[in-house]
Amino acid sequence: MKYTVSGLLVVSALIGATLWNSSNANKLQIPYENVASVTAGKVVYDTNCGSCHGAKLEGQTNWQIRTAEGYLPAPPHDETGHTWHHPDQMLFEFTKYGPQHLAGADYKSIMPAYEGTLSDQEIWQVLAYIKAQWPESIRKKHTEAFSN
Ligand code: HEC
Repeated sequence: MKYTVSGLLVVSALIGATLWNSSNANKLQIPYENVASVTAGKVVYDTNCGSCHGAKLEGQTNWQIRTAEGYLPAPPHDETGHTWHHPDQMLFEFTKYGPQHLAGADYKSIMPAYEGTLSDQEIWQVLAYIKAQWPESIRKKHTEAFSN
């Protein structure tokens, strides 16, 4: 029943299924321990992501509830959100190609694809900034979950 309540869970499930076979699915690639990457990533985040995902990664209010138009508000990227449940490559592809790449062409979302706007390096940098903001315990969980 959950998927009728929160479309985000559907997306997450779809993404999980889509990338399960990807050879990079369980590789740690986000350079969150690299200070230069994190610093550059903050600029990328503030310029491109903060307007929706929040200046402090807090997301938009009621982010689990679709609007009357059928769109989900932007979810948080901090520890209260779902981002840290996903492997590096999945987060990268979601950002680069947009939700439709993973959830299907007719999936309704306000999240743009950043291919053409950001380089691959900038996408890894912004993910580094995001991961670097998580509490140590969450960073550790994320690293351990996807390091095999
Ligand atoms: C116009 C608003 C908007 C902007 C700007 C935006 N996003 Fe999003 N983002 C969303 C929404 C809404 C979702 C939820 C997807 C959906 O519509 O179901 C999302 C989801 C995500 C997810 C998946 C999170 C999860 O829990 O699975 C990632 C990763 C992400 N965004 C990264 C970024 C990054 C990185 C940037 C900046 C480069 C960015 N987004 C810019 C609106 C936005």
